[in-house]
Amino acid sequence: MANTEELQTLVLTTLDRENVIADSKDLKTVSGETLNQLALLGMIDYSAIDREFWTLSEEGQQVAEQGSHEARVFEAIPTGEEGISMDEIKKILGKAASIGQGKAFKNGWIKKNGSNLVRAKDSIEDQTKNDLQEIKKTTTHSNSKTLNDLKKRKLVEKQKVTTYKVSKGSQFSLEIKKEATDITAEMLQSGEWKNASFKKYNFDAAGISPDGGHLHPLMKVRQEFREIFFEMGFEEMPTNCFAESSFWNFDALFQPQQHPARDAHDTFFLKDPSSTDRFPRDLMEKIKVTHENGGDTGSTGYNYVWKEEDAGKLLLRTHTTAVSSNMLYKLAEKTKKEGVFRPAKYFSIDRVFRNESVDATHLAEFHQIEGVICDKNLTLGDLIGFMDVFFKKMGMDKIRFKPTYNPYTEPSMEIFSYHTGLKKWVEIGNSGMFRPEMLLPLGLPPDVRVIAWGLGLERPTMIKYNISNIRDLLGHKVKIDMIKEYPICRLDKKMGKELVGVNQDEQ
Ligand code: PHE
Repeated sequence: MANTEELQTLVLTTLDRENVIADSKDLKTVSGETLNQLALLGMIDYSAIDREFWTLSEEGQQVAEQGSHEARVFEAIPTGEEGISMDEIKKILGKAASIGQGKAFKNGWIKKNGSNLVRAKDSIEDQTKNDLQEIKKTTTHSNSKTLNDLKKRKLVEKQKVTTYKVSKGSQFSLEIKKEATDITAEMLQSGEWKNASFKKYNFDAAGISPDGGHLHPLMKVRQEFREIFFEMGFEEMPTNCFAESSFWNFDALFQPQQHPARDAHDTFFLKDPSSTDRFPRDLMEKIKVTHENGGDTGSTGYNYVWKEEDAGKLLLRTHTTAVSSNMLYKLAEKTKKEGVFRPAKYFSIDRVFRNESVDATHLAEFHQIEGVICDKNLTLGDLIGFMDVFFKKMGMDKIRFKPTYNPYTEPSMEIFSYHTGLKKWVEIGNSGMFRPEMLLPLGLPPDVRVIAWGLGLERPTMIKYNISNIRDLLGHKVKIDMIKEYPICRLDKKMGKELVGVNQDEQ
């Protein structure tokens, strides 16, 4: 096949010779794009000629050569009174026999004689064959009804071709001038710029995508959530350590040591090193007695023998609340040191791990968004009120709560939002007020209350970027190009509506 340049030269030389090309159909494979390039240079003008033509299908081809099924049935029947059985015809014609038989009857070409078929006419005219032969020769037929009938019988197909009428443009010449894309120092010195023709700017062209780094979609959405927290005066917690002790992940959260979540079926424990004793001794003692009998928290505890050995087990943190408990301990220490309690608002958005079977919506790791507010005399009303404001920032303005259970919060509430699309309430997160059994051992003043909530990052991201399989978002199957191509995330109000349903399964 000729290349674009050769085809363009062919068009130009033909125009030079003949002044106009009435129809480009004889000019090899000149495409619209090839002509368009010349038209943009003003060298030619062109317009499209759309044409329809008819071709025979494979079966049509066969009928044009061998005759229609019905004619072949007729031909297969010998002249005379005796006729031939259908079985015999089938042996001769195969599949065509049954189709042809019906039509031949309808046309009055054949009739029955006992169980045999006999000719009802001396001769027939195979109009279908004639029609197909005409179409084959002329690519059309004088009768449009015939064409449509044959099309319904799948004997012919309609095809479309576009060719072009081409004439000389105002800038016609035999030579395709290369247009300059830029002024160079040489052009200025030689004065060539005065005569040069410059390529027009194409303001519709897509920009060149920058070669620099690209944020993963999860990180783009995370950035938007971070902005919301910063805007509301929150401080980011250091969540850069994925390995955590059971102590901070469970014990400090008043989660008993025999709780099912602390099983290897649910949690990834580390092998090497498998344990640590690096947590504050005095705090450990307080947590031990609180678990065993409530200590001086006013609770009865869980009534079991607490083991340091279990608290020391290292694991991949199962929730970012492990970091929150550590931060609250630090806040308590600071309060003691400074002699004054200062309210705090913390948040984190980072990775957590659970020993779960992987499917289209679950991986063994995901990201949690967590918020913690710590102040004197906070109430459940504050939590509800705050949730309203927080989720409104994402456009979710109908929020409801349902009581639930977490070992470390009381009361605990699942958060629901009304999904206008699904027309129902869907769970979007989990929340609660940290229990005194958790806060008092950490050393926070007794009138300090802490409200907290958590939700997943993957769901809003999948909704925002229209990803239905989580394995396309995270893991070894993720396409690097996808990361480059996804646009910046803006959590607008409209998106908030879609975001409803952002929770991950809670532990
Ligand atoms: N840690 C909880 C979870 O993993 C979420 C949560 C955070 C619940 C804070 C209440 C308070 O699901």
